[in-house]
Amino acid sequence: MGLFKDYVSQTRKPEGFLGKMMLRGMNTGHAKLADWGLGHLQNLAPESVVDLGCGGGRNAGELLRRYPKASVTAVDYSELSVEKAREYNREMIAAGRCKVQQGDVSSLELPEESCDLATAFETIYFWPGLSQCFSQVARVLKPGGYFMICNESDGTDAVSLKFEKIIDGMKNYTAEDITAALKEAGFSKVKTDHHKNKPWLTVIARK
Ligand SMILES: C[S@@+](CC[C@H](N)C(=O)[O-])C[C@H]1O[C@@H](n2cnc3c(N)ncnc32)[C@H](O)[C@@H]1O
Repeated sequence: MGLFKDYVSQTRKPEGFLGKMMLRGMNTGHAKLADWGLGHLQNLAPESVVDLGCGGGRNAGELLRRYPKASVTAVDYSELSVEKAREYNREMIAAGRCKVQQGDVSSLELPEESCDLATAFETIYFWPGLSQCFSQVARVLKPGGYFMICNESDGTDAVSLKFEKIIDGMKNYTAEDITAALKEAGFSKVKTDHHKNKPWLTVIARK
């Protein structure tokens, strides 16, 4: 199990050589999931977006591409993720449309009511308590702002439950768990959608 556990545990906080490999893998491996999730956000024209737990930065790049008038802040607590996300989005950073910030979702260093849209792809499994973190997201969203969570796991599939046993600090959540935590954090409208063939889950909440 040694090397396998070390490698898959890089999903929680990438670092070192294995972390670099994992970040490259996540940028390509999560693209289809992220694009499926983003497909739920039709007719939005956000000006200010934050991508939480941004990893290697591919999804922040996709947000910048889909929303040409938006500026995107990508946040991650891993130094290596921040470095990779900056490299991936260097042109947009130079153009002044993207910032990558090292920080923990449980204490976001973003101004109150500053974002129209917050996204979280494949990351809430590792957050230190959904209520605390979702309250932080609610704090930085403008009234009426959207929070989209997109997970490869619906909290019940066998593969993800296996990984939960291997990766220290990982927790899978069902749509019901996420909905309850969002409501507790002050989100009013919550919609969930399950992929028709896969255990993928998208949750969209409105502040
Ligand atoms: C599985 S990766 C997903 C990365 C990216 N969102 C994607 O879909 O490819 C999870 C990321 O969330 C970050 N992360 C986990 N907990 C975090 C926290 N409390 N605050 C900020 N980032 C966090 C990790 O460092 C890692 O880069």
